[in-house]
Amino acid sequence: MSGCPYFQQKFFSTSKQQTEDENNDSQIGVNKASKGGIIYGDYLKLDKILTSQVLQSELKGNKIHDEHLFIVTHQAYELWFKQVLWELDSVREIFISGHVRDERNMLKVNTRVHRIVMIFRLLLDQFAVLETMTALDFFDFREYLSPASGFQSLQFRLLENKIGVPHNQRVPYDRRHYRDNFRDQESEQLLRSEQESTLLQLVEQWMERTPGLEEDGFNFWGKLQTNIFKGLEAEKEKIEQKPDPEMKEELMAEFIKHKDTFLSLFDEKRHEHLLSTGQRRLSYKALQGALMIYFYREEPRFQVPFQLLTSLMDIDTLMTKWRYNHVCMVHRMIGSKAGTGGSSGYQYLRSTVSDRYKVFVDLFNLATFLVPRDWIPKLNPNEHSFLYTAECCDSSYCSSDDSD
Ligand code: HEM
Repeated sequence: MSGCPYFQQKFFSTSKQQTEDENNDSQIGVNKASKGGIIYGDYLKLDKILTSQVLQSELKGNKIHDEHLFIVTHQAYELWFKQVLWELDSVREIFISGHVRDERNMLKVNTRVHRIVMIFRLLLDQFAVLETMTALDFFDFREYLSPASGFQSLQFRLLENKIGVPHNQRVPYDRRHYRDNFRDQESEQLLRSEQESTLLQLVEQWMERTPGLEEDGFNFWGKLQTNIFKGLEAEKEKIEQKPDPEMKEELMAEFIKHKDTFLSLFDEKRHEHLLSTGQRRLSYKALQGALMIYFYREEPRFQVPFQLLTSLMDIDTLMTKWRYNHVCMVHRMIGSKAGTGGSSGYQYLRSTVSDRYKVFVDLFNLATFLVPRDWIPKLNPNEHSFLYTAECCDSSYCSSDDSD
């Protein structure tokens, strides 16, 4: 093989194993260029992957050229979904095992979550390739696909569940449970993914431990509340001194709205109510942690956490864009016809491009609560040692330098 030199080396074998492998080579007819090592095609199992494009139209004796593109595009998506699940499971495992208490592991979490973001960026663009197929070309083989549908993409549903899309937020269709589209074994896998800790829940627990939230310590929340209401009082006084009554009335109406926003922020009961209706997803404590990370993002201790929160919002944004690109393509391909999976098609898909599916919606809404810099409680690096000291105090967490 004259290609990638990497695959010309015996990089997986010990020398004893190598001799055994070389003896076997002649029996299984391995290419001489492999020098007894694994070769490119075998390593990647290309014999399986590249023979998995079976055109239904061809089987039915009416080979349609574009069905090949349709299959390859779906397969490429599924492979990338697999990689996303691989990264997601590893990140969840780091949180579940408690390795995240050793803050050095946060970099690994961040890198992998960022990788998921990059994959989704790529996935958005892949629709453009499929869109080179015209609606008429698709029509030529669509009849052969039924009842196969994206509804039956196990990996896509696993992904939604593991990130944290709750079942009660799913758009209902045809009065069917989404798991009814799957075989028994797959359905059990989906049920398990609903019962396991989601990325949202794990990040929530981690944010609840944000250093500086302790009421008997820095007491970020208490200090912030005092500062905000002091700042609002000063704003109100300024408005009251305005000479023009019309302008005063206008400004006061705006001020009341502004104040209401903050009253709601510090009202735990209201938060619980919004949680119960699905309008907020994070616990009250986690929301405080998130806001703290936002405000102090420039402090060394909060830089990596801030990047993580940014990537989590990126995932939500990119999944929403994925849904949007998909539905635009579907509209172009089948108009307003029903889907092969039994939904209304375009109408159903359009309703999924919504905040119902945004898992980290609270992080987006944090921007509502941003305040002038001088209202943010001051941190003193000499006094507040948590800015430098890692949370880790249990040696069992710190002893391992690799969490995999
Ligand atoms: C010509 C191209 C495509 C058409 C016309 C199409 C059509 C549809 C329709 C109508 C639905 C709604 C379910 C139903 O009633 O069948 C659906 C769902 C879905 N499709 Fe596609 N699709 C296309 C390409 C793709 C591709 C390339 C992927 C990549 C994996 C994909 C993944 C999905 C997924 C995951 C769902 C479920 C979405 C949800 O319920 O939120 N589709 N598709």
